[in-house]
Amino acid sequence: MKAAIMGYGTIGSGVAEVLRVNRDVIAKRVGEPIDVKYILDLREFPGDPEAGKLVNDVNVIVNDPEVKLVVETMGGVHPAYEFVRANLEAGKSVTTSNKALVADMGAELIKVARENQVNFMFEASVGGGIPIIRILQTCLTGDVVEEITGIVNGTTNYMMTEMTENGSDFDDVLKDAQSKGFAEKDPTADIEGYDASRKIAILTSIVAGQTVDYQDIPTEGITHIDSQDIRYASKMGRKIKLLARMVKTGDTYCCRVAPYLLPSEHPLYPVDGVFNAVFVKGNMLGDSMYYGSGAGKLPTASAVVGDVVAMAKHEKRHIFVDWKDEKLELSDPSEQTNRYFVRANKVHIFPDAKIIPAGVDNETGFVTSLLSEKEMKEKTELLGKVFKIIRFA
Ligand code: HSE
Repeated sequence: MKAAIMGYGTIGSGVAEVLRVNRDVIAKRVGEPIDVKYILDLREFPGDPEAGKLVNDVNVIVNDPEVKLVVETMGGVHPAYEFVRANLEAGKSVTTSNKALVADMGAELIKVARENQVNFMFEASVGGGIPIIRILQTCLTGDVVEEITGIVNGTTNYMMTEMTENGSDFDDVLKDAQSKGFAEKDPTADIEGYDASRKIAILTSIVAGQTVDYQDIPTEGITHIDSQDIRYASKMGRKIKLLARMVKTGDTYCCRVAPYLLPSEHPLYPVDGVFNAVFVKGNMLGDSMYYGSGAGKLPTASAVVGDVVAMAKHEKRHIFVDWKDEKLELSDPSEQTNRYFVRANKVHIFPDAKIIPAGVDNETGFVTSLLSEKEMKEKTELLGKVFKIIRFA
């Protein structure tokens, strides 16, 4: 079978490498070999083993009936959306690693795939090499998923781990992460939580069967976390981690992305460095967790090629995906309840507060009882100066 790769950056070249290195084993699993016929990219790659396959017009791929499998690893929503759609309409199955495309256009592209009896797959869009999409779409379909809590951003998990283990400051850790290639030159999407927000929107959409708009998810990044917060956290025997959460609330779901204080008994507590993990609670299954490399060339390419193999094995047969292009109204986040860790200079507003002595001058660190977000907001207004509020997980 013939495949094409659109976008020959880190992930796209990883996909070509996985297909090349594992060609024989993949051929055995599919029943015939899968060869890359075209690579779409405007750049040149002299000396690259795939350089002879480069094309710069998407129509070469769209108009070639021999190509049945297409990989989209370009990133961004446009023109990735137009290119993916054109290939689906031409009767080719497409897989993508592009979470922005899936979060924005997932339901619509699934519909186009269904109308053309092909498949649109996106395993690598969440959790990199961790096959969390397939787990939710296939393995846990006998369960009602009651909660998903994920460490789904490697950059911020690396940064929080470094701050916890070495007591380093945020700015120094960010520079270190950038020099090691773990953080982008423009790290905004990671450190402000937007990347995690898109990922939990995708996971919630496939569990709910309807579209969650990531812009409806209250999202807080890690930019305000400092070394004193880390000091308080270790006094409490907890770690601060950026979590992407979804909890079933009646007929709908409540989502949030924020830094949380995780207790040592939580399965996500030991997940450190650039690793990702997704904790899933089912009403029959109980607790489960899926762990692995959430980013990087070959782990992400491995997930993409898993989709390529699935698409090759289901040529001309659309696999039903329950994700409608109908917006899901999430439940009111102000009704959510939590305990909160607070750093402020007045405690009396919280009569049940548990004081955390961490030797920080001119403030008191304390933990509240269980309060709704709304109650917490009202109390915070009375507090006057608040240095920090971090939720307990
Ligand atoms: N920037 C992302 C991360 C890459 O740090 O996890 C994988 O989506």
